[in-house]
Amino acid sequence: MDTSYRIATIPGDGIGTEVVPAAVDVLERAGSRFGIRFEWSELEWSCEYYARTGRMMPENGLDVLREHDQIFLGAVGYPGVPDHVSLWGLLIPIRRAFRQYVNLRPVTLLPGVESPLREVPAGGLDFVVVRENNEGEYSEVGGRLYRGTPQEAAIQESVFTRRGVERVMRYAFDLARSRKSRLASATKSNGIIHSMPFWDEIFRELGAEHPDVKTSDYHIDALAALFVLDPTRFDVVVASNLFGDILTDLGAAIIGSIGFAPSANLNPEREFPSMFEPVHGSAPDIAGTGRANPIGQVWAGAMMLEHLGHADAATAVMGAVSHVLAETGVRTRDLGGTASTQEMTAELLKALDQEV
Ligand code: NAI
Ligand code: MG
Repeated sequence: MDTSYRIATIPGDGIGTEVVPAAVDVLERAGSRFGIRFEWSELEWSCEYYARTGRMMPENGLDVLREHDQIFLGAVGYPGVPDHVSLWGLLIPIRRAFRQYVNLRPVTLLPGVESPLREVPAGGLDFVVVRENNEGEYSEVGGRLYRGTPQEAAIQESVFTRRGVERVMRYAFDLARSRKSRLASATKSNGIIHSMPFWDEIFRELGAEHPDVKTSDYHIDALAALFVLDPTRFDVVVASNLFGDILTDLGAAIIGSIGFAPSANLNPEREFPSMFEPVHGSAPDIAGTGRANPIGQVWAGAMMLEHLGHADAATAVMGAVSHVLAETGVRTRDLGGTASTQEMTAELLKALDQEV
């Protein structure tokens, strides 16, 4: 059976424009093996587009995206355009309009890769962070007062709704059930006295509904330390928007490079396209040098295949990634090697062809 999908690609800025084409090649190759066809529409929305038009995406941008099955994004943000402009002009509207309220970020140490942790227990690192992706600390409620005067002030409100917290936690409970049935919640109810006790209450209520899932909660600061000191205690971790964001850069660090870490912005109900992107940004420091590690983008592509219901193709892509890392010694510079993005991609394509 031949299945066809319309995928909107937004390479964005910096290394996004280098790793997206690499990952598209890998997905094409996997597609041809598994009878999946992709119709790619490349959208040039980026900071460069902003410099030309004054917008990160056109006014009808969300309507354009809505006509696609999924969105495959590199990274947006570049010196010259303030980061809050690039984020709020593109990524956040997409995540919100398409109710991508789950941001799924696996923390898995791939075979053959060295973690900066001195001791990695047998069995490696393998857990998942479920980050709330629509509300919480990322909110436009607030303002600036008395600009330019000594009394100048900034107020930034967090927004936690019962509906928003419940739905992301329900997703995390279900995910835990499909894994080792352990769910940890990131809180800070000692210092943040309204929203975090509310978060904890809902977590306890849902915990009572899921007696088969072993729950625990940790203050975010202690939780961060445990990512380093005892990461194997985790299976699924659920966290608010900001906490989840910070935890997953740490997660990316312990799996050996930010260049590996993937992320899926999911609309679990599938009413809208979901969006797949690496955790890393546009890396202006190495952009244009052909040195970016493409694996985070490729892995995000594997998550897209999984979401589309092609677990076999996703497994083949990750099999190729594992093979290259474990067997070939080909490494990009973030991993201490010398391979370029293109050389690494060529190895991945070769591995995909050779897999039986
Ligand atoms: P970054 O992730 O772009 O870079 C951090 C460090 O990691 C840099 O030294 C970079 O060279 C390295 N790095 C990142 N990805 C790599 C890869 N694939 N291979 C090898 N090395 C890699 O984070 P930074 O510097 O904080 O942000 C740069 C820009 O990206 C900013 O404008 C920021 O707003 C934007 N950004 C966008 C994101 C998105 O589109 N989702 C996410 C994070 C940042
Ligand atoms: Mg981040």
